[in-house]
Amino acid sequence: MRVPVPHLPSHVTASQPFPPDASDRLVLGIESSCDETGIALFSTARGLLAHALHSQVDMHAAYGGVVPELASRDHIRRILPLTREVLREASADIHDLSAVAYTEGPGLAGALLVGSGLAHGLAFALGVPAIGVHHLEGHLLSPLLSTPAPDFPFVALLVSGGHTQLMQVEGLGRYRLLGETVDDAAGEAFDKTAKILGLGYPGGPALSRLAGTGQPGRFRLPRPKLHSEDLDFSFSGLKTAVWMAARAGDLDASAKADLAAEFQEAVVDVLVGKAIAAVDQCSAERLVIAGGVGANVRLRARLDEAARARGFEVFYPRLEFCTDNGAMIAFAGAMRVSAGAPAGAFGVRPRWDLASIGVPVAAQSA
Ligand code: KG4
Ligand code: ZN
Repeated sequence: MRVPVPHLPSHVTASQPFPPDASDRLVLGIESSCDETGIALFSTARGLLAHALHSQVDMHAAYGGVVPELASRDHIRRILPLTREVLREASADIHDLSAVAYTEGPGLAGALLVGSGLAHGLAFALGVPAIGVHHLEGHLLSPLLSTPAPDFPFVALLVSGGHTQLMQVEGLGRYRLLGETVDDAAGEAFDKTAKILGLGYPGGPALSRLAGTGQPGRFRLPRPKLHSEDLDFSFSGLKTAVWMAARAGDLDASAKADLAAEFQEAVVDVLVGKAIAAVDQCSAERLVIAGGVGANVRLRARLDEAARARGFEVFYPRLEFCTDNGAMIAFAGAMRVSAGAPAGAFGVRPRWDLASIGVPVAAQSA
């Protein structure tokens, strides 16, 4: 759904998101939507001052996936020590905060509540606004933490463990969904395929490493929806095809690597093909990649190649900011505060459509 809204003030561009004459705002960012506790401190005048992350991957690995209740409890254990660590590292006083941004959704309800609880408690005690941030808006804006940052407008390819979407981004909060997966997300397909190949959880990085040692082509896997008219994706059949190939016979190490390489090539073919189609459809000059799968080396190489050949620019987040982190939430919160976002009410939104969020109210009237 498209949200019709006026443009942001003319001085607000993606690479210049904060008015140069505005006073410094210090925003604490809290991410706790899934299995990573991320905290960061962002200054609108000085940039990212500090960030810290605790990943629960080792804890959930024993179960082969995220256990929501364990995730919530671990967020409770980590969130305050990490917050203290970030403030110490930035030599900042908690009373200097201008706002506390937190992931309001989508994600696991219990895990989100931990971050929301801390954000609202702190904000109330300090007399500053608590700003709820959409997790995918955080991912989407994360390449803006790098230099050079892309200017608006751009096409964004969001490829995470839970989502695979192409968005047309015209400004803060002005997002139009171009296409999305009809079943598994790209990261989910990597994780499930890695499980089939016995690579553990989460399998994306391990599968991508194994793929780097193999050759695509020995196995033939489908490229689902590559030539469909729409900009949607479908990855669940690909995982099933890997399962069938793996079941057909005992795979030795080199066959496993070749199957991993073919799987990765199939996902990358589809992601690159659809991203190019989206860029063409929007006549865009810039493509932005965000989300955990954006760390994939093969995907980056193929997108760079496509961008060179077709004359558009492609932007990525820093590798550490591809997966969940507090910096992207602090940054998105800082952009929202600067655009006049009011304090939000206490709560979480485990399901929340990115295209519905809109721009902060004050920016609409500017
Ligand atoms: O964005 P993210 O941290 O989580 C969600 O918000 O969902 O992304 C995590 C996903 C996982 O599925 C993980 O396997 C995948 O990103 N991932 C990768 C790579 N690094 C992380 N997938 C492919 N290649 C990688 N190098
Ligand atoms: Zn994420």
